[in-house]
Amino acid sequence: MTPSESHSILITQSQISTRVRELAEEILAQHNGQPMTVILLLKGAILFAADLCRHLPSNIQIECLSVSSYHGGTESSGTVTYLDAQLPDVSGRSVLLVDDILDTGLTLYSVSQKFKELGATHLSRCVLLSKKKDRLAEVSAEHVGFEINDEFVIGYGLDYQGRYRNLPYIGVMTLS
Ligand code: IMP
Ligand code: MG
Repeated sequence: MTPSESHSILITQSQISTRVRELAEEILAQHNGQPMTVILLLKGAILFAADLCRHLPSNIQIECLSVSSYHGGTESSGTVTYLDAQLPDVSGRSVLLVDDILDTGLTLYSVSQKFKELGATHLSRCVLLSKKKDRLAEVSAEHVGFEINDEFVIGYGLDYQGRYRNLPYIGVMTLS
């Protein structure tokens, strides 16, 4: 039998919009003045990054990155596959990686390493959510919207089997 899906609201639309504005201020305050490239990780970061970038100056460049992560159970390293034919040129630029959620950390770890190798002069990470749990990779985000418990969440970019991304709030998924 297919389990029935329901969810309860964890973070409201208005809490998100207040926090997104604060995050943009935080990012600008710590920005070193170099040309900035914002790289958003598809698909989870689309709503968050779209709102965040509206509060950043108009000289930023916005790039998208398509990655797929294979997390091998309890393995301490995961394989992150880059699906784009060409990666953004970041040499000499300050890079801000934007993702929806920091979970195991494998994705942000791999992507951070990749763009350092590609010549980013400064790199920082911004996530809307960070799960309170041990990471499988040594990575943290300089800018975090909300710390949450280790529960499965949906909405504002986050999906369950491809659905719920367009909810304007964050919900905790319950399957019964
Ligand atoms: P990780 O930090 O490499 O484990 O990967 C983070 C990615 O896993 C995120 O970008 C999400 O796409 C996905 N993810 C992790 N936790 C959740 C969740 O609670 N709901 C929906 N997607 C999640
Ligand atoms: Mg994702």
